[in-house]
Amino acid sequence: MFFEDNERTPPDRYGRDIPPRTAKDLKQSPVVEFKNVTKTFNAGTRNAFTAIKDVNFAVEDIPDQGEFITIVGPSGCGKSTVLRLIAGLDPHHPPTEGSVKVMGKNVEAPGADRGMVFQGYTLFPWLSVKRNVMFGLRMTGHSEATAESEAMQWIELVGLSDSAEAYPHQLSGGMKQRVAIARALANQPKILLMDEPFGALDAQTRAQMQSYLLQIWRQVDITIVFITHDLDEAIYLADRVLVLDHGRLVQDGHHDELLAEDGPYRMLYDAWVSATTV
Ligand SMILES: Nc1ncnc2c1ncn2[C@@H]1O[C@H](COP(=O)(O)OP(=O)(O)OP(=O)(O)O)[C@@H](O)[C@H]1O
Ligand SMILES: [Mg+2]
Repeated sequence: MFFEDNERTPPDRYGRDIPPRTAKDLKQSPVVEFKNVTKTFNAGTRNAFTAIKDVNFAVEDIPDQGEFITIVGPSGCGKSTVLRLIAGLDPHHPPTEGSVKVMGKNVEAPGADRGMVFQGYTLFPWLSVKRNVMFGLRMTGHSEATAESEAMQWIELVGLSDSAEAYPHQLSGGMKQRVAIARALANQPKILLMDEPFGALDAQTRAQMQSYLLQIWRQVDITIVFITHDLDEAIYLADRVLVLDHGRLVQDGHHDELLAEDGPYRMLYDAWVSATTV
């Protein structure tokens, strides 16, 4: 009995009671795996530009527990390139060298196992909130009635039941992003890819969205990879931070660990603190 109790890890900072990792868990393929990934745009021409160079990391698949990872680094360091390689989106996909795997398989194209929420509002303006969320479900062969009832559940989860019949132009920026999150989650992806999703929102709305996202993440077994410029956001949201610098993955760990190192993360953090402190 004592042994069993001792094996359980304490609830994490989100209050989730995480089962212990077993050898079997760790034998499963990682959710995401980058092996020696280099992406050179316009390779072989005068305009060749290497956006990321020899990037290696893995996100393990722990049953019933998705990781929340942020990618940070200066503008142009390759954050979106990493995310879009996971998504399988051209022209970032395919990598010039190395392999990008999701659930043990090479990424060939976008797929329903990866949902995406980007900064620009990517809702269909001619469809209502409900129809936007139903769209992917209908595409994947769900009947009208099933798609509608599932869509309404996701809309409820993001707190927009009262706006289900509204059109995107009738919504605030934060509401639009909540619809985008519901739409991405409706297909029950394994991974949610978010590229500065709250970057265009005012500070108060942004803070609300961050707490919404954490609430949702606690309820859904999903891995989130989230790009942000805002270190406050990275610290609030994620347990694990990947730091990119000039296309290289230079640090990978928890905020506190990274801050204790004399490296790029601390420089980013110091610069951010002085920029945000009046
Ligand atoms: N299609 C492309 N063709 C050529 N170069 C590109 C292309 N897309 C991105 N790049 C270059 O690759 C580098 C990395 O771009 P990326 O968009 O990944 O950066 P980022 O870290 O997301 O930047 P930001 O914070 O400004 O969004 C940049 O220097 C960019 O100019
Ligand atoms: Mg970017």
